[in-house]
Amino acid sequence: MPGELARSAGRRFARFATNLTVRRPGLWPLLRPLMRFQFDWLAPYWDSLREPGYLDAYERALAEVEAARRILDVGTGTGLGAFAIAERFPAAEVVGVDLSADMVAEARRKTPPELAERMRFEQADAARLPFEDASFDLVTLGNMIPFFDELGRVLVPGGTLLVAFSSGPETPIYVPLERVQAELESRGFSQFAELAAGTGTALLARKRPRGLS
Ligand SMILES: C[S@@+](CC[C@H](N)C(=O)[O-])C[C@H]1O[C@@H](n2cnc3c(N)ncnc32)[C@H](O)[C@@H]1O
Repeated sequence: MPGELARSAGRRFARFATNLTVRRPGLWPLLRPLMRFQFDWLAPYWDSLREPGYLDAYERALAEVEAARRILDVGTGTGLGAFAIAERFPAAEVVGVDLSADMVAEARRKTPPELAERMRFEQADAARLPFEDASFDLVTLGNMIPFFDELGRVLVPGGTLLVAFSSGPETPIYVPLERVQAELESRGFSQFAELAAGTGTALLARKRPRGLS
């Protein structure tokens, strides 16, 4: 288990990398190796570091989503959020992607057998997702840096985006929801809903349906 000093340095790096990437996405390739190293290192301990109620805001927002068949969880970590999604939507196919190969290995190892047929985990960079345009009708992010152009690209018109932060503004990887909303509005998203549960906050947004301007 990493010591408190190392974890604190990791949290500060995560906050720094998030702020810089949201302001200057072009600098992400410089940060990517360090981010990947950090989460490879944390992967074996990640679940034991989670506080109770960690998923409250994520699940609170999920409860507002009526239906979804093709779902992507970006920055899935050990897959906790993706497992909750697969349980909530029993007919859905769920894909989880993460930059860290070790996180992906943990998520695969921890996949409950009864969900395994409908779930898969892949190593991928959210800045360049390996999926066709309009591949998913729900895309989710828990405590993850949003790469707005890619999120808009892989969602179907009319699809839903869910962005949640477990500890609100205290979350190391955190983007203020007003900033998330403004970035999404400029890319044609609307119907925003802010939610809160426990210490967490979340935002739901809908990509403009085809034919509406
Ligand atoms: C704070 S953890 C959150 C993990 C999980 N969603 C959760 O809430 O437990 C952030 C995760 O995002 C991953 N990540 C960071 N940048 C990424 C990127 N550009 N593409 C894909 N995954 C990324 C990290 O490897 C890490 O597993």
